[in-house]
Amino acid sequence: MSRPKVYVTREINPEALNLLKENCEVTSWTGSSPVPRAELLKNVSDVDALFCLLTDKIDKDLLDKAKKLKVIGTMSVGYDHLQIDEIKSRNIKVGYTPNILTDATAELTIALLLATSRRLLEANREARTGGWAAWSPFWMCGPGLSGSTVGIVGFGRIGQEIGKRLKPFKVKRILYQSRSAKDDQANEIGAERVNFDELLKQSDFVIVTISLAPETANIFNEEAFKKMKPTSIFINTSRGGVVDQDALIKALQNKTIWAAGLDVMTPEPLPLDSPLFKLENCVILPHIGSATLDARKNMALLTSRNIIAALKNEKMPEELIL
Ligand code: NAP
Ligand code: GLV
Repeated sequence: MSRPKVYVTREINPEALNLLKENCEVTSWTGSSPVPRAELLKNVSDVDALFCLLTDKIDKDLLDKAKKLKVIGTMSVGYDHLQIDEIKSRNIKVGYTPNILTDATAELTIALLLATSRRLLEANREARTGGWAAWSPFWMCGPGLSGSTVGIVGFGRIGQEIGKRLKPFKVKRILYQSRSAKDDQANEIGAERVNFDELLKQSDFVIVTISLAPETANIFNEEAFKKMKPTSIFINTSRGGVVDQDALIKALQNKTIWAAGLDVMTPEPLPLDSPLFKLENCVILPHIGSATLDARKNMALLTSRNIIAALKNEKMPEELIL
């Protein structure tokens, strides 16, 4: 019997690739940058499964060409790059990678928060380029976490783990905003559920971990930034699309808010001439939330396992229920 065909859209770790090869005929794009769209479209025409990344847009156009596709395994927890209605209407299964990247992303979010509030990159730049004249009372100061109020927008897996990591920093209050109440998880860390406006008004730090969906696109707009404190710090490790980026740039330029730390933005990679790169009060990371060695290895392995299980009509380890 012929083996199922899988197309893999990037170089992945050997363990995950070998697992696929034991079970399937594998074709891969082995470039270090995303597969060109034309190449992707050409390669999906006769595959049973697609191993993709968040950089690959899986839309109607692609699905129309992938007539035999039975399963999509995305090596990500976010799935805003997948056109879910079109996938659902074709009964294609989707596997994704929740949980195994939660710790890595929560850790990175705390690192970004501290780097932004305590101006670590700016300070390091000054030290290396002669700006360090002497210890000075007001130089390189920024807001501290101890005694502060931190608001988490989107209190899912990553949001909750961030909350747990904030406690040892002696924050005074942790607020969260979420569609559904998370009483047990919130009680564990002493977090209080408030609405979006209250969270913006009361928080010294606003951390965004809400998924990107039509309802959450651009929720951080000019109006939202105006509700925040002028001393507040805005941290986004979710998706750039939840932010109206022009409004954020204006808020940072006009000091409507104090600073921002972004692991995600629009577009990615951020063009070098973006005004965000010119702002001292903005820390930019190149979407590295899950980038620990273990998390990335396990994400690739889980994606392979999801695909193999679906092709065998077995229960997928992490199926996205559409
Ligand atoms: P999760 O557990 O599903 O949490 C998502 C949160 O978003 C939940 O609080 C959920 O609210 C809320 N949400 C989802 N859809 C919504 C909608 N349509 N309207 C309002 N709220 C909505 O996911 P997670 O594992 O924490 O991951 C969160 C996001 O982080 C991912 O979607 C991804 O975009 C991003 N991420 C980024 C990196 C990075 O490298 N920077 C790494 C991993 C993940 P309810 O709880 O009420 O449903
Ligand atoms: C990363 O951004 C992910 O969604 O896994």
